[in-house]
Amino acid sequence: MRFFFMCRDMQDRTQKKAETNTDTIIATGENDMNNMLYISANPKPENLSASKTVARALVNRIMDKYQDIKYEELNLYEQHIPQLKHSYFAGRSKIISDEEMNKLPESEQKEVDQIIRICDQFRNADLYVLAAPMWSLSFPAPVKEYIDCVIQAGKTIEFKDDKPHGLLNNKARIFIYVQSSGAHIPWLVRPALNKGLNYVHDVMRFIGISRFEELLVDGTGTTEEEREDAVCRAMKKIDDIVLSV
Ligand SMILES: Cc1cc2nc3c(=O)[nH]c(=O)nc-3n(C[C@H](O)[C@H](O)[C@H](O)COP(=O)(O)O)c2cc1C
Repeated sequence: MRFFFMCRDMQDRTQKKAETNTDTIIATGENDMNNMLYISANPKPENLSASKTVARALVNRIMDKYQDIKYEELNLYEQHIPQLKHSYFAGRSKIISDEEMNKLPESEQKEVDQIIRICDQFRNADLYVLAAPMWSLSFPAPVKEYIDCVIQAGKTIEFKDDKPHGLLNNKARIFIYVQSSGAHIPWLVRPALNKGLNYVHDVMRFIGISRFEELLVDGTGTTEEEREDAVCRAMKKIDDIVLSV
């Protein structure tokens, strides 16, 4: 397909540029990133998805920069993200104790284990890439189900004087949101038309992740040509983002 051939060609050129500039890139990076978590939320195969194509190029470039970085991938359409049942909670955002968990049926104990695993995987990371398309002004529903698993009292938030506070400000963390959308959304109308991006930014800030970068693959439109253009435009922004992480 012309779209992927063209962009792969461009990506190769970007790759060569990155290789020749490796010293500069490493010297410019301000952070010491150890654990990258790439979360994708799109039922399409990667070669047909604008957001996943761009996110893959970004992730590869970050791994070139931080060659010792530990890397995990989580596909929200392949991994099981449990629904949060009332019986799993001891209070607001507080998962039940081991003792209480042992009283649940075995199938529910497995669900609670999975919720805890999802949260622990998130808080062990320091560099996050989320790739998602814009669907109905926001992101696909599994992203919200995932975030609800991640926000747990005692792990990612705590309550002080009845108010919630984020706990993930204990080290440098960066969250990069790769979002594809059919439309170009002008900055002024973002609160109305880009609710997903605003929400993810707000919730990451709330749990203590102060650095948030967006990589928009916007204006994918309705034709193959528009989609090619959008992907190629987004690929060109990768260098700057990699420099800043
Ligand atoms: C169910 C659905 C809802 C969508 N809603 C929006 C929308 O609200 N705004 C928009 O600009 N594009 C919308 N789109 C278009 C996609 O965001 C666009 O095609 C995007 O490039 C898909 O990215 P992908 O190739 O990574 O899946 C929607 C597409 C689908 C399938």
